[in-house]
Amino acid sequence: MKYRLNKNNYHDFSVYQKNRLPARSYFIPYPTREEADTTAAKEKRYRSSKVQCLNGMWDFKFYPRPAELPDVFDTDQVSFDTIDVPACWQFRGYDKPFYVNTRYQFPYHPPVIPTEEKVGKVFSWMGFDRGLGPRWQDPGEEYNFVGVYRRSVQINDPSQNTVISFLGVASCLDLYWNGEFVGYSEGAHNTAEFDLTDKLREGENELLAVVHRWCTGTYLEAQDMFRNNGIFRDVLLRFSDPEDLWDVDARTWKSGEHYAVKLTATALTDTEVTFSLEGHGIARSSKAQTSCGKAEITFDNLEVTEWNAENPVLYTVRYETPTECISEKIGFRTVNIQGDVFLVNGRKIKLRGVNHHDTSPTNGYTMTPDEIERDLLLCKQYNIDTIRTSHYPPDPLLLELADELGIYIVDENDLETHGTFSHQFPPTYNSISHDPKWRPRYLDRIEHLYERDKLHGNTAVILWSLGNESGGYSNTDAMYHYLKARSPLPVHYESAIHSRRQAYDVGSEMYPSVAKVHMVGEHCRKQKRLNDRPYFLCEYAHAMGVGPGNTEAYWQEIYRYDNLMGGCVWEMVDHAVLHPDGSYTYGGDHGEWEHDGNFCVDGMFYPDRSPSTGAEIIRFIYRPLRVSRVSGSVFEIFNTMAFSGGERYELSFCWNDGTEQTIQPTVEPLSRVQVPVQLGRVVDGNCSVLITTRDYKTGQIVSEEYLTLERKIPSAPKGKKVLPLEFSTTDGGITLALPDGSKLTSADPYTLLYRAATDNDTDLTFRNTMKPWYSQKEEILTVKTENPGVRNEVRISNPKAKFLVTDRYVDTEEGILVTSELRCESGRVNIPRFGKCFRLDESFDDVTYVGRCGESYCDMKEQFPVREVSCKVRDMTEPNLRPQESGNRCDCSEASFSNGRIRITFRAVDRPFELGVKPYTDQALISMKHREDEKRTGTYVTIQAFQQGIGTGACGPGIAQEYLYPSNQEYRLRFLINVETL
Ligand code: GAL
Repeated sequence: MKYRLNKNNYHDFSVYQKNRLPARSYFIPYPTREEADTTAAKEKRYRSSKVQCLNGMWDFKFYPRPAELPDVFDTDQVSFDTIDVPACWQFRGYDKPFYVNTRYQFPYHPPVIPTEEKVGKVFSWMGFDRGLGPRWQDPGEEYNFVGVYRRSVQINDPSQNTVISFLGVASCLDLYWNGEFVGYSEGAHNTAEFDLTDKLREGENELLAVVHRWCTGTYLEAQDMFRNNGIFRDVLLRFSDPEDLWDVDARTWKSGEHYAVKLTATALTDTEVTFSLEGHGIARSSKAQTSCGKAEITFDNLEVTEWNAENPVLYTVRYETPTECISEKIGFRTVNIQGDVFLVNGRKIKLRGVNHHDTSPTNGYTMTPDEIERDLLLCKQYNIDTIRTSHYPPDPLLLELADELGIYIVDENDLETHGTFSHQFPPTYNSISHDPKWRPRYLDRIEHLYERDKLHGNTAVILWSLGNESGGYSNTDAMYHYLKARSPLPVHYESAIHSRRQAYDVGSEMYPSVAKVHMVGEHCRKQKRLNDRPYFLCEYAHAMGVGPGNTEAYWQEIYRYDNLMGGCVWEMVDHAVLHPDGSYTYGGDHGEWEHDGNFCVDGMFYPDRSPSTGAEIIRFIYRPLRVSRVSGSVFEIFNTMAFSGGERYELSFCWNDGTEQTIQPTVEPLSRVQVPVQLGRVVDGNCSVLITTRDYKTGQIVSEEYLTLERKIPSAPKGKKVLPLEFSTTDGGITLALPDGSKLTSADPYTLLYRAATDNDTDLTFRNTMKPWYSQKEEILTVKTENPGVRNEVRISNPKAKFLVTDRYVDTEEGILVTSELRCESGRVNIPRFGKCFRLDESFDDVTYVGRCGESYCDMKEQFPVREVSCKVRDMTEPNLRPQESGNRCDCSEASFSNGRIRITFRAVDRPFELGVKPYTDQALISMKHREDEKRTGTYVTIQAFQQGIGTGACGPGIAQEYLYPSNQEYRLRFLINVETL
């Protein structure tokens, strides 16, 4: 079949849609009430006889040279490949994945985008790949690629009213049917619907969809993510009978103690509509005739149980005509702002949130219903109750599941113009958002967000969000007014802070320091509009690499002040590409001519959704009950939930003397009580308690807290004297010959003052703060035998400072007592780390230690209690996609390493040490880029006096003062080394 292609829509500034049907609620109709009521949300769009899902293998022709796309496209002449729908073509071998954060992939000349020519030189001044500074780059063979999709569709009854719905296409869609142009649409994450009724024929029909890599709308889609393309969400054919409904709405409100709901139906032709509301003892039903296609009914005086994320009570609303039934779930709840306090159902609330992108390591933007559900279940499991759908409307299924599972949603518009910032000098956020020529596109996007998701505006959606990082303000004002005219929900938009508006209904910021958040609490920020309304941390605690550090400090403020409504961690899942050999790649690994490296790998969960330490940190901080000791045997229980009483949980106190006490606390939401708890006995100078919080009904553990009342480092058992100690004279280290012929030696370098930079050791100006420490030089000053023992003095210098290290070794009955002292001779710095690193051969693979039972640094350690742990060396580092310092263990009293024949034990003296165990040296780790680079070369054990905190410097505040170790102090590390033959 032949098609005359429209080659203008995608780059014509006056066009952002053609023939698209008006936006409406997302719903799936069924022919019968029974089917409509009983089909689960996840299945709904695949089971209805009124809907045909067109997912599957489609024909596909990729044009790497857009000029080669023929004017007249003859599907009988073109040799097609096949591709699955939905999918992103970069994940199917066409073009390559391309990760860039803020920038566009073409020259910044809005609204001009590349058409058939090469992209040409691009100016920008910032990027992970090159750092800061103006530059022109030539992308080389980069074009506005085109993908043409074709499939045949069998139609049995062409007289039926038929609509095609595309739930997500990037960047835009020119749709053709049976040789004719149907329409055009932009707005990648918005639904595009077209009427096919007059175009159908009985039997085989042909669908042709032309998708361009970029369109004018791409200027509004500079989100920080892999820039993918294709038909990436489901495609549905919807068949309607004449008396079917086009759109439905529900609007709930509270009057006095009772609720009311107004149900509205828009019909294709006038018909009778039966509206009903059912659930939890309520059954109301009423019929209404449409007039001019509209009918509505109000059920009032409803005594309902309110919906909230802790107790997501849903009711069924139905809209029935003689030919169909639309059955939807809604909850009854209110959202209000009272003064500067954000209220749900009249209660102040703290949103424990996360930012969620649709991301799959094998499919890019495409997520299956099971994967969407898995992400939400993970949220529940990790005490997360809020999702900001950064930075576009999610698949509508996510909202249905959020209603059901109980997750608050900040529903975000598909809008980000971040490139206006990075491609212009001086940078500005506002050039597109304040340009009225772009306003129709802004309004089109917000209309699609609102219309599609309005049903959920009664339930999970508690805030509309105008978009991300697009500045303002005249076009963002227009979107705000659009929403205000339609919805009672408050509107969020962080980037208002970069415009005259500063804020809409709630103040919002990303990555402020704790001090700034505190100032909002105190109502004394310079930006006045942050002080007089609720304040939301739309992004905080950047979870890139190891971290986030010091996150608890935000929550101390959030719980202190009523105007702080909580926030969303950036972000839930790492973005990366998984390859058949199991390896992952990130920005720059696919030959991208510009890229932002591993800045996309910044999630609490790895791409396969296994939790990183970040997830454990957040799970702990978002715990429902917080326990602290007041004094003596009086403990305080703080119920951080907004709706559930403390009796929803059971707390068990397990003391180290073996005693246990379980209580089901009575404590009102967001309040505190003091309770007496029977203290455990002090055993060998130690008294500690592990407090486990379980859901009372399910028995599921929701958190573990560990409190130390008294701690004494146990004295070491007296043993046989260890073998003669050999001192190397090159680096002042040691060599211990072991009975099985192997050796314990000092590693190179022996004294570690640095760590292989974590992502958070690089700041937003792309400066790696650890780098100067890598070029550490050692000079042996003395190696002296003393009575008793040996004393070495070593000078360590690097470009930042000079240190004197004095090491003493004394052979005692408990083992070799090592004392290392560190004094700064010149320079004023914060010392990243002070530890001694030893090497054993890799046969020493069994590790047993007593300390924090998972990855911990001084500003992120409470998530793991102190325990005895036995594991392998490989369990002591974390599988970061970009290898970096990881796996530290705080508060250790001992650690031993065995190869089945020999056991070497390091024991703390006076105070606990921090333990690092790696299968390679820290030196080698510095240059590793991917997991595959992690080649084992031994067992490396670092016993440390300290390691500085982690912070969130990659995007946010660096390490807080209290977690730094200034060089104007002297530091001492003491431990014992003992060797046993097994
Ligand atoms: C924010 C942005 C996010 C992400 C984050 C850094 O500025 O809104 O999309 O880029 O920074 O990872």
